[in-house]
Amino acid sequence: MYDNAIGIFDSGLGGLTAVKELVKVLPHENIIYFGDTARVPYGNRSKKTIVRYAEQDADFLLSKGVKMIIAACGTVSSVAVNLKDQLPVPFTGVVAPTALAASNATKNGRVGVIGTSATVNSGSYKNELLRLNKSISVFQQDCPLFVSLVENSFISPDDDIVKLTVERYLQGLKEQQIDTLILGCTHFPIIAKAISNYLGPEVTLIDSGRETALYAASLLEKNKLLNRSTDQGCCRYYVSDTVEDFRRTAEIFLGKTVGNEVSHINLEHAFVH
Ligand code: DGL
Repeated sequence: MYDNAIGIFDSGLGGLTAVKELVKVLPHENIIYFGDTARVPYGNRSKKTIVRYAEQDADFLLSKGVKMIIAACGTVSSVAVNLKDQLPVPFTGVVAPTALAASNATKNGRVGVIGTSATVNSGSYKNELLRLNKSISVFQQDCPLFVSLVENSFISPDDDIVKLTVERYLQGLKEQQIDTLILGCTHFPIIAKAISNYLGPEVTLIDSGRETALYAASLLEKNKLLNRSTDQGCCRYYVSDTVEDFRRTAEIFLGKTVGNEVSHINLEHAFVH
């Protein structure tokens, strides 16, 4: 069981920001990643659809014998809130660890939250922040186009399209004088530089991928599931759309190339509920 992989999934490539951090925090762990690239984005779909997709994603990872599941997706973590209760292995989403980091980071008690429309409409981060500290003022903004920008490699902080989209979405939060901003979608750390350039250095950005990786490490330890091997762990990737597209874009998220470690899987046929 100890050397079984940690299973991580996302609607697409965003969860790779959590994989990158997880490899840093837990270098000896094996990781199986599933990116539902054929059905991304999840963030503008109905609750019923998001729940069904999340269940299929988790079933696929369980079929690979994973010892833990991480929903490295703000949308799934916010909407498929009962998934945890259906799983035979420890589970974490991104909302609780990220909100905790933000509530610890804010000095002026003014926290912004950005995510997909489904995430923002669910109020998940806001509710968790207020549960932790009811004096925090929370300002939310959905930024659905950020996901498309990232999935299509529009990520340079100097790109006019990126700069304009960031300004359009974040102007209101800037006016609210937030000092902390939750990047509530795992795609968003990829354009963190553009976001930070616009908001200024006085605003601390909280990366949901990083915070979740740190929390997952503590959860594994608590459940006595840490890998006892001291070898470097390996990562395998599965995607529901083409492997070639994944390889091309994954490099941006992981900071390294991905070769034969990625395979295609058709979830609609394999795990229909
Ligand atoms: N990375 C996902 C999230 O954190 C996704 C975006 C989407 O599928 O809309 O919300």
